[in-house]
Amino acid sequence: MTSALADVVDRVRVTAPGKVNLSLRSGPRRDDGYHSLVTVFQAVSVLDEVSASHAQSVKVDVFGPGAELVPADATNLAVRAAQLLAQRAGISDGVHLEITKAIPVAGGMAGGSADAAAALVACDALWGTGASREDLLEMAGELGADVPFSLLGHTALGLGRGDLLSPVMTRGHFHWVFATQDRGLSTPAVFAELDRQMERTGAPALEPDPASQAPLLSALRAGDGEQLGELLTNDLQPAALALFPELRRTVDLATDLGAWGVVLSGSGPTVAVLARNPIHARTIAADLLAANAATQAVVANGPVPGARVV
Ligand code: C5P
Repeated sequence: MTSALADVVDRVRVTAPGKVNLSLRSGPRRDDGYHSLVTVFQAVSVLDEVSASHAQSVKVDVFGPGAELVPADATNLAVRAAQLLAQRAGISDGVHLEITKAIPVAGGMAGGSADAAAALVACDALWGTGASREDLLEMAGELGADVPFSLLGHTALGLGRGDLLSPVMTRGHFHWVFATQDRGLSTPAVFAELDRQMERTGAPALEPDPASQAPLLSALRAGDGEQLGELLTNDLQPAALALFPELRRTVDLATDLGAWGVVLSGSGPTVAVLARNPIHARTIAADLLAANAATQAVVANGPVPGARVV
């Protein structure tokens, strides 16, 4: 059903945040090719923007750093999001999506998922589909494992493929530096390397236990950044380091600069550095750049909300 709003709105702008996994524990590969995860996501103030306006067909243009690496055809996750919503809502309208990137492309911060979540919210508002939050979350889960979190934002525990979410209580804000690299890593390639590493150990991969996150959840609830820094962990880090050995230097340098914690963001290669305060974050960013340990060093804070109309 189309609402009266659709007649008056001719452009909708939506922002969606990048994310860091504060903890990512991976179990074995499942029959559907995904790994069962226990993870804690935090949305951070590195925002992509998706602007949606009426058009005959669904089309996309991408701007900003790394835009040339993002497909501008039907394989673009934001285009697939618009098509899925149109199909579910029985809408034959098109949309022109204009994506402005700030989240590093292929960086392990769920930039593509953020764009898909933003496209769902933008097209819902543009077309007046009246989809419920639950409908949008369900479509998000079909588009990719990280898309539901990009809709929800803030901090959340993710189970299953990482898409079964429960909100996590936090206090205060955490100050981050995201050190990016001049090439990306493919998420399937990093998970495949993890499989090879697990095979080599000969030990059976165990299902991760959500109870293992209790200390991390308690540090978040207390707003204890120092404790949080010690608990940052990512099972994908050894696999990403095997594929991108230069990252070791970035991790070591950030640790030497007095960060509370340093961890690979998602499947990398972005390295997430938890600083003590905003000034410390800016100093770490400048020092990482001066040492050529990062292509960009983006200062941000979290948690922030998920995809929303601006
Ligand atoms: O869902 P999404 O398309 O973002 O996932 C990309 C790829 O990452 C999957 O095809 C899979 O190879 C890997 N993946 C995984 N286990 C997860 C999430 C992603 O193996 N829980």
